[in-house]
Amino acid sequence: MCGIVGAVAQRNVQGILLEGLKRLEYRGYDSAGMAIRADDGRLQRCRALGKVAALEDKLAAAPLAGHSGIAHTRWATHGRPSEANAHPHQSGERLAVVHNGIIENHEALRDELEAVGYSFASETDTEVVAHLLEREARQGDLLGAVQRVLARLDGAYALGVIHADEPDVVIGARKGSPLVVGVGIEEAFLASDPLALLRVTDRFIYLEEGDVVRLAAGGEITILDAAGTPVTREIQTFEHGDGAASKGEYRHFMLKEIHEQPTVIAAALEGRLGDRNVLVESFGPEAETLFAGVRQIHLVACGTSYHAGLVARYWLERYAGVPVQVEVASEYRYRRVVVPEGTLFVTLSQSGETADTLAALRFARDRDYLGSLAICNVPGSSLVRESDLTLMTRAGPEIGVASTKAFTTQLTALMLLTLALGRLRGQDPDEQAGLVEALRGLPGLVRRVLSLDPAIEALSTAFGEKHHALFLGRGAHFPIALEGALKLKEISYIHAEAYPAGELKHGPLALVDSEMPVISVAPNDELLDKLKSNLQEVRARGGELFVFADAEVGLAEEEGVHVLRLPHVHEALAPILYTLPLQLLSYHVAVLKGTDVDQPRNLAKSVTVE
Ligand code: AGP
Repeated sequence: MCGIVGAVAQRNVQGILLEGLKRLEYRGYDSAGMAIRADDGRLQRCRALGKVAALEDKLAAAPLAGHSGIAHTRWATHGRPSEANAHPHQSGERLAVVHNGIIENHEALRDELEAVGYSFASETDTEVVAHLLEREARQGDLLGAVQRVLARLDGAYALGVIHADEPDVVIGARKGSPLVVGVGIEEAFLASDPLALLRVTDRFIYLEEGDVVRLAAGGEITILDAAGTPVTREIQTFEHGDGAASKGEYRHFMLKEIHEQPTVIAAALEGRLGDRNVLVESFGPEAETLFAGVRQIHLVACGTSYHAGLVARYWLERYAGVPVQVEVASEYRYRRVVVPEGTLFVTLSQSGETADTLAALRFARDRDYLGSLAICNVPGSSLVRESDLTLMTRAGPEIGVASTKAFTTQLTALMLLTLALGRLRGQDPDEQAGLVEALRGLPGLVRRVLSLDPAIEALSTAFGEKHHALFLGRGAHFPIALEGALKLKEISYIHAEAYPAGELKHGPLALVDSEMPVISVAPNDELLDKLKSNLQEVRARGGELFVFADAEVGLAEEEGVHVLRLPHVHEALAPILYTLPLQLLSYHVAVLKGTDVDQPRNLAKSVTVE
């Protein structure tokens, strides 16, 4: 998704802006650009279609220089990817703007501006903002102009603005799209994601909805809230060191993040387990009182996070006895939802900025919920700030667009939620103690599964020429099959579908032949025998089977049946462990096919538009 960087510094800002854009590359984009105010008052702009490297080449040939500037990576929403549609957009030669989000009333504003003589150079919704600002700035200072223009915009945005007449000033604004201020030493920065600025600062102010900020020379930062009142916002130190923004010894961020899972799962558990139970206080001081009233849960998320929610339904119903409804946020937010008494609203999100999930939370706030809980990976994100309770997943920054460690830490956090609720709802203490013990052993088991990587890589060669794949699972492993199929399709572009294995004969079996690889996870649980019969149905139709099975399960390798054995794990935690071979399989298939593993086509890391 689009990314913003801005800077007012004592040094030339070109390098700071370029480094920031590189650090935002993981979000996915199709073009990039920057504008810098030169010391003689000229605005200079450089834009390029494609990767930030293309912009870098152009800048190397014709560098920009100055002490204030803005930059952007674009992910097309209005208008195709092109240099003309890339940000920053200018109005004349005096004003430049970068924008994340969508201006919903851009057509009406465009008509109005064209009627008074403005001509448009792009197909974007953003250009209306540039012209509106240019017109308003003629009436006074840039900050006032931004405030007046914001009042005319419908939709969601984060903005960065510079004007030739205001030396060393960058204005930022947010409504519905994230924006942070980086606090430097006599320098100040702006970005849509703190990761962009970690080379220059680790101190951030997370702007709130409706905030407008003015950055000026000497590190001056002035923030006005939605009502235009000057406010002081807390400066927070970024928790996750800068190492997360580099690949280290790994070929791709995705592979690095897969291998980080033992460490981050351990981090997700740290300080949250007692001797024989989960510490309910991990969810905050008010959690015990709020959880005591929970009779039902509505769990809402998108993509991979939604799959984590689907697994949690099996856990919460079985171990905590709470009925759970799980729904994708883009559907939930437009439904007439019935909220039974005592319903807890739970959102799951890696980024905490997914537009649909955030909108669902805001929609839920006006309904009769008991309260809201966000399970999220990004401290200071909108979801975290707007929820009653939060549990951080502590996965550290996830750069690969395909979510891996964020998913397994979400599952870990959801097991903690299950046990916290179970504890308050009379779960057998021995059962809870057994699960707590199993959780403690989980990082070690994850490490053992990751050591099977060479064998999984060998299996991946069978997928090089395939166009389709079918994933099967039963019970809590059906969502794991869904997640396996999502991983394979998003990074290798192989069409993949997932079914609960029992559904095979109700339709998808018609697709099975020697060209359709069938991948299944077979932990040693109560559904194992049923799963084995389903796999026989596949074999009988000539389908090639790839089964990830418990070491103790009697599934034999034979022609057309590849079995990879995983260490035995507590039945409840098997969905976490069985995710790993599916992540690795997708990764190796994608590498084999030569796709852009960390930034798959058409996708963005953080989907901040609807
Ligand atoms: C998963 O690999 C995805 N790239 C995507 O489905 C993601 O999980 C989804 O967009 C939700 O994001 P969030 O967890 O940041 O809300």
